[in-house]
Amino acid sequence: MGDAVKVRRLSTDSNLDRPMGRAELRAESVTRVFRSRRSEVHALGPVSLTIGAGQFVSLVGPSGCGKSTLVKLIAGLLTPTEGEFTIATPDGRPPTIATVFQDFGIFPWKTVLDNVALALRAQGVDAPTARSRAVHWLERMGLESFQKAYPSTLSGGMKQRVAIARALATEPDVLLMDEPFASLDASLRQLLQEDLLTIAQQDVGRTVVFVTHSLEEAIFLSHRVIVMSSRPGTVLDDVEVPFPRDRDASIRESLEFNTLRGTLWEHLKGQVSRPQTTKGR
Ligand SMILES: Nc1ncnc2c1ncn2[C@@H]1O[C@H](COP(=O)(O)OP(=O)(O)OP(=O)(O)O)[C@@H](O)[C@H]1O
Ligand SMILES: [Mg+2]
Repeated sequence: MGDAVKVRRLSTDSNLDRPMGRAELRAESVTRVFRSRRSEVHALGPVSLTIGAGQFVSLVGPSGCGKSTLVKLIAGLLTPTEGEFTIATPDGRPPTIATVFQDFGIFPWKTVLDNVALALRAQGVDAPTARSRAVHWLERMGLESFQKAYPSTLSGGMKQRVAIARALATEPDVLLMDEPFASLDASLRQLLQEDLLTIAQQDVGRTVVFVTHSLEEAIFLSHRVIVMSSRPGTVLDDVEVPFPRDRDASIRESLEFNTLRGTLWEHLKGQVSRPQTTKGR
């Protein structure tokens, strides 16, 4: 099944009873060590950084440097070994967080619509509202005619659209995406990047942390790119991307884009080949 769909520029009103987003992330000297009887892996840190409300930030770094560990710490799936991690909302309410991973994580035995609606039901949203919000987000991701389809009938790109629709339908303050497009071929990946950019341009308040191995993807999508060192990952470089939010695909061809990619690669290159110094892996 093809993936030549386009995200809809629909109204962003989705029956919310609260303003979306405005969550600020703060890591203060955060480290994470994985200990077992036989080994000790210093996976991350110390990392100190602030990600402002509404920022789209990409994390790049060599394999095993702790990017997924950082994402799991933000998601609350792991706790720091040392240091403190906080997510501040303006009114002090607990932040809502959604994650999208590389392997889609959708239920094969549920239809596309049910996959999205289920996430909302799990949040306590009543069935009719869950359904209408799910339909809204499937439309925004260009999936309106696939509501009754089962995931096994969909391409990888379509499955990832379902996973993104499901994450966004929960209207999270913070969206965490860990290599969401890594398993897609180059052209599908580019389409999904453009669609994600469109959504990010519309939903201005949401804070997004996006992990990728692609510098092009990071620059294209983000306000800011953070380059991490090899394990234990620390912040090696923190670069503002000099393009406005309403950028489009043409920036990929610009000199500025390619110069920035070259600069980031210079920083990353030394890390990719640097030998690991901590015992275990
Ligand atoms: N639950 C765990 N127990 C023990 N070690 C772990 C655990 N999770 C991660 N690690 C180790 O911590 C380090 C960082 O892992 P992590 O998955 O965060 O890296 P990553 O930057 O996401 O890598 P990749 O780019 O390959 O996805 C690695 O050495 C990994 O083997
Ligand atoms: Mg990872």
